[in-house]
Amino acid sequence: MQDTHAWSGRFSEPVSELVKKYTASVTFDKRLAEFDIEGSLAHATMLHKSGVLGDADLAAIRDGMAQIIADIRAGNFDWSVDLEDVHMNVERRLTDKIGDAGKRLHTGRSRNDQVATDIRLWLRAQIDAIVVLIAELQTSLLDLAEQHADTVMPGFTHLQVAQPVTFGHHMLAYVEMLGRDAERMTDCRKRVNRLPLGAAALAGTTFPIDRHYTAQLLGFDDVCHNSLDAVSDRDFAIEFTAAASLVMVHLSRLSEELILWMSPRVGFIDIADRFCTGSSIMPQKKNPDVPELVRGKSGRVVGHLIALVTLMKAQPLAYNKDNQEDKEPLFDTADTLIDTLRIYADMMRGITVKPAAMRAAVLQGFATATDLADYLVKKGMPFRDSHEVVALTVRHAEQQSVDIADLSLDTLRQFSTLIEQDVYSVLTPEGSLAQRDHVGGTAPNQVRFQIARHRARLAG
Ligand code: ARG
Repeated sequence: MQDTHAWSGRFSEPVSELVKKYTASVTFDKRLAEFDIEGSLAHATMLHKSGVLGDADLAAIRDGMAQIIADIRAGNFDWSVDLEDVHMNVERRLTDKIGDAGKRLHTGRSRNDQVATDIRLWLRAQIDAIVVLIAELQTSLLDLAEQHADTVMPGFTHLQVAQPVTFGHHMLAYVEMLGRDAERMTDCRKRVNRLPLGAAALAGTTFPIDRHYTAQLLGFDDVCHNSLDAVSDRDFAIEFTAAASLVMVHLSRLSEELILWMSPRVGFIDIADRFCTGSSIMPQKKNPDVPELVRGKSGRVVGHLIALVTLMKAQPLAYNKDNQEDKEPLFDTADTLIDTLRIYADMMRGITVKPAAMRAAVLQGFATATDLADYLVKKGMPFRDSHEVVALTVRHAEQQSVDIADLSLDTLRQFSTLIEQDVYSVLTPEGSLAQRDHVGGTAPNQVRFQIARHRARLAG
């Protein structure tokens, strides 16, 4: 009996070896085993409560499943491709152990509602882990932001020096992105956390099942309310992969910045050696491999999103074998994201910031030109006129190869007599920062306010 299929009675010849391999999913879906067993135990408990399964059968199923979990954890479970997938492997093993009670387990269900339940249980656990890891990465960025709430760096637009910001403020931009990522994950979890079991193959079942009870046993918030939708819906998988893609996109942006900042041409930061590698030919090299790989792996996760959207496009109701292709993209998305978040939290703790290089870059870029324009507006000049005055001032400073803060008061007054001695307090990077003192601005006290707000949210 070991190698015959549950449906072999219907067929006159066995499937070819190639087809068997092509259609089997056990090589990858075996990682769902413990979630499959959790779902089976809840199903059996519900069948027992409804009078479909007797006391002895339920006890045997529980005992057999406990042994199977122990076998799997000990590496004593032989997964067979002949048995196609995780569901039939576990069921056959159960029947080998406990006989007829094992054969009764599948009453009132199908692999279609079973696999949809398994994936949802698995994905819920992944989301819970991801939300914690996002918070850990946010904490490591907040620590860095706090150390550098006053550290001046150039803010860029078009990758040209624009205006001074603090490094802390820059880090907080990523804390915001990750905050939205965590919200999206938590929101997606609501739609993951609904029970398909009870839909059976597609139309429901003739047995007196209690789906709300099964949902409660498994910690689902609700049941799926249409049996056809229950077995065929993979929206939740697409939503998760979309949310994961955005996290990876955010981290690819930070990675790009780290790579740029670590280039000796820029020299804003150093990344701890344990996150870098050398070159086999160039002895001087220290390469930012980890951020480069994160940048690369973001493409892989976005690829999984496209794969899943395309998988579902034009699929007729209800279950189709196509859906077996949901697992590998989903597994790889979660694995990639979890590894990336873990390594990132650690890597950000190992970053050395070089404030002198950042400050020097600010001074080279006329970063306080807007501050001079704003200063003139506050003295009564219309903004468009002040913009022109400052453009001429910058041109002059550039010809002299100095910053506008280095020009004497007499020189500055050649451009506008509104300029007085107090101008110098807005022309320094620190003066520029201090004036952007409103919610969301880069003034150091605003940066500290945001850090405290995020910390309170993460603690709460
Ligand atoms: N291995 C299958 C999957 O991953 C389980 C469901 C199979 N159902 C079926 N009717 N062939 O989707």
